[in-house]
Amino acid sequence: MRAFTALLPLLAVAGTVVAQHVHYEPPEVQSYVRSMLDEFDHYTHYPGPSPTASLKPHPTKPWEHGPTETCAYWLENINHQGIAAFNPSPSTYQVFRNVKDFGAKGDGVTDDTAAIQAAISTGNRCAPGACGSTTVTPAIVYFPTGVYMISGSIIDYYYTQIIGNPNCVPTIRAFANFTGGLGLIDGDQYQAGGVLGFGSTNVFWRQIRNFIIDLTLIPASSSATGIHWPTAQATSLQNIVFQMSDAPGTQHQAIFIESGSGGFMNDLTFYGGNNAVVFGNQQFTMRNLTFYNAVTAINQIWDWGWTYQNINIYNCSVGLNMASGGRTAQSVGSVTFFDSSITNTPIGIQTAHDATSQPPTAGSLILENVQLNNVPVAVAGPGGTTALAGTTGSTVIAAWGEGHEYLPNGPTNFEGPIPPNARPGVLLQGSKYYQRSKPQYEQYPVDSFLSVRSAGAKGDGVTDDTNALQAALNRAAARNMIVFFDHGDYKVTKTLRIPAGSKIVGESYSVILSSGSYFADINNPQPVVQVGRPGEGGQVEWSDMIVSTQGAQAGAILIQWNLASYGTPSGLWDVHTRIGGFAGSNLQLAQCPTTPTVATPPAPVNVNCIAAFMSVHVTKSAAGLYFENVWLWVADHDVEDPALTQITIYAGRGLLVESAAGTAWLVATAVEHHVKYEYQFANTKNVFAGQIQTETAYYQPNPNAVIPFPTVASLFDPVFPVAVVNGIPNADGWGLRILASQNILIYGAGLYSFFNNYSTTCSNQGNGEVCQNRIFSVEGAVSNVDVYNLNTVGTHYMITRDGVDLAIYSDNLDGFVDTIALFRSN
Ligand SMILES: *[C@@H]1O[C@H](CO)[C@@H](O)[C@H](O)[C@H]1NC(C)=O
Ligand SMILES: *[C@@H]1O[C@H](CO)[C@@H](O)[C@H](O)[C@H]1NC(C)=O
Ligand SMILES: *[C@@H]1O[C@H](CO)[C@@H](O)[C@H](O)[C@H]1NC(C)=O
Ligand SMILES: *[C@@H]1O[C@H](CO)[C@@H](O)[C@H](O)[C@H]1NC(C)=O
Repeated sequence: MRAFTALLPLLAVAGTVVAQHVHYEPPEVQSYVRSMLDEFDHYTHYPGPSPTASLKPHPTKPWEHGPTETCAYWLENINHQGIAAFNPSPSTYQVFRNVKDFGAKGDGVTDDTAAIQAAISTGNRCAPGACGSTTVTPAIVYFPTGVYMISGSIIDYYYTQIIGNPNCVPTIRAFANFTGGLGLIDGDQYQAGGVLGFGSTNVFWRQIRNFIIDLTLIPASSSATGIHWPTAQATSLQNIVFQMSDAPGTQHQAIFIESGSGGFMNDLTFYGGNNAVVFGNQQFTMRNLTFYNAVTAINQIWDWGWTYQNINIYNCSVGLNMASGGRTAQSVGSVTFFDSSITNTPIGIQTAHDATSQPPTAGSLILENVQLNNVPVAVAGPGGTTALAGTTGSTVIAAWGEGHEYLPNGPTNFEGPIPPNARPGVLLQGSKYYQRSKPQYEQYPVDSFLSVRSAGAKGDGVTDDTNALQAALNRAAARNMIVFFDHGDYKVTKTLRIPAGSKIVGESYSVILSSGSYFADINNPQPVVQVGRPGEGGQVEWSDMIVSTQGAQAGAILIQWNLASYGTPSGLWDVHTRIGGFAGSNLQLAQCPTTPTVATPPAPVNVNCIAAFMSVHVTKSAAGLYFENVWLWVADHDVEDPALTQITIYAGRGLLVESAAGTAWLVATAVEHHVKYEYQFANTKNVFAGQIQTETAYYQPNPNAVIPFPTVASLFDPVFPVAVVNGIPNADGWGLRILASQNILIYGAGLYSFFNNYSTTCSNQGNGEVCQNRIFSVEGAVSNVDVYNLNTVGTHYMITRDGVDLAIYSDNLDGFVDTIALFRSN
């Protein structure tokens, strides 16, 4: 996170384009059958029985069981015994709230606004304007099936999961006289004085999923908004249909984001609207969004980097408008748009970029595998020019781009077709990269779930739950049950092993908290959670949880991933690491204040704040893993402190992938503030990643990345030979380091270094990007290391190959960031 104020005035959105009226039939539902991974054919002793074999799906025939039975959803019916361990009143604080228990009717008639708001706010929770952030008042606000009428905005609070029944998706519908705020759901309410209620780059750990958001009763001429969503990391919108007016002159919009540091969204469908969505934020990954009948499907008002995967646009006037600011002052840094389609739309993508537009690399764009059907202009340039002609028939853009390229040397200013990435077949499902949305286990009855609290774990942040959790995990795997981690903070003092076949789901991010001497030895690290033993094969699914540490844990590897998954990949969705800065961590402002004026060395680091050895280690034997919306965060500030005061926490390494067989998808991941590196790929292959996002630790180079963790050669730790070069720190941690690896395909990267010893002077625009010298290193025998839209901040050299700097920031200026549209190692 970084406090970064909104760059643009609110609602700087024009509505002058007239809607097109073209007939269109929605596409077939995609096939979910994935061919076996041919590379793994040799692997014959797996699979055993399907891990879900004995789970009994719900009956789906209404004439047999009736509609109520068909709608039943386990999360609604399971015993609600989650606790917020570090809340002041854990015994009375309610985590799970069913809006009907607060008086909502969902009958399509009653005004449910106040009842829904009561479900959100009850329990002295963290309200916009009154509270900066906290982890101690988590909530699931659950909507059973129904039509919930509202007359004013539902104001979202911090750390809130708003979840509808996915089996019979509830509707939130505005009355015609809907008045008030920005959004049927306002994720960050503006306060008096025009400031957001929560700083948008600090809005973490929240979700909305399984809804129909219906604006259609609101007059089309009213600029009504579905969801206002300026958010940061570890946030998501999933499985939401937005219904808006498509009448001529409609002013409806589904989602409005003007700032923040996101984030992820998936499986959204939009009908109608003027700008169906308006997006401005540092970066985001958006996957599987479908637009019908908007004037402009996506109005991109600003960004640094944006990853659009599997976007399908039908019957609009403009698909994606990224021309904001115009050709002399473009405000959109870069866009990566792939595995997508645009149909019956006169202009696919509107840009303001040309050979001499400003800033020079703003408006960087990469398209890959984009199907056009009746899109006469694929990419429009400024002033009515055509950058890439389309067709009134059908065609596929294999790959095309504009911006600066390094192949591997540069820069070359280019605009035109490029060879598409050579995609390894193992990463594909049909012609697209494999995708899999977070499972919600809709089809499973409540008796398929094993609650860890029912199984004897306490989750109270005090009791040692290691043995109870291990027994629950083992029992569930043996019985093919789904493990439900009721909300809680589960302290463990030894490694927790997740066996193959496990399915695990948390409740508003249940926390596993490592503690004690077992994880304290910097020279003898131990996994807190081990997913499969080395050599083990099979599948695991894990979602909605956080792995953390308590106190000094210099030997803690938060997640060690050994599992080899062949056929179906294993998956991790909305599982994060969080190291320090929250209640219960004993790594807060009181323990770990910043010390910028104390030179370190000679002063020693505070060993009580050495909080982890590594966040996630994907080991040699691992294979076939799909991570989606995963944020590995070492706290830069204390989330519980009203002033969000910065703190200094040391965690050695971020994400290390050294899987020999590779085959990894990293969709919407971010890794921040570790010591030696954020992402490191070593001796691996076949990795799809995008958007990846990093931040260098704010204290560096005081101390630098050599301190306090000894270099471990067997983990390919980087060696930092020189501390300062030309006055710029050389020994800050790497944002991204790729060693001796093949087919590392990165679809959007934001590698940021905002600070130098807690000062941002080094990253202020025009100051020479002197927070650190180097941030992205490619080393050894690599092939097909391809990066689309690399954005860096505060970094002097953007790409370094075997110690040789390939790209200097000043050749690639893009406003606050520096951008290279295309880098290829060979
Ligand atoms: C196409 O869009 C227009 C205006 O948005 C709408 O009126 C029309 O019904 C749409 N066509 C189809 C087939 O959806
Ligand atoms: C809005 O309309 C609904 C439904 O007609 C009605 O119940 C409600 O009182 C109205 N609210 C206002 C403020 O007029
Ligand atoms: C895309 O989203 C739709 C609507 O939620 C869903 O039915 C479909 O399965 C999703 N497809 C993928 C590839 O995730
Ligand atoms: C860090 O910055 C502070 C000012 O904020 C300065 O006094 C101090 O000398 C700096 N220390 C190092 C080691 O750069």
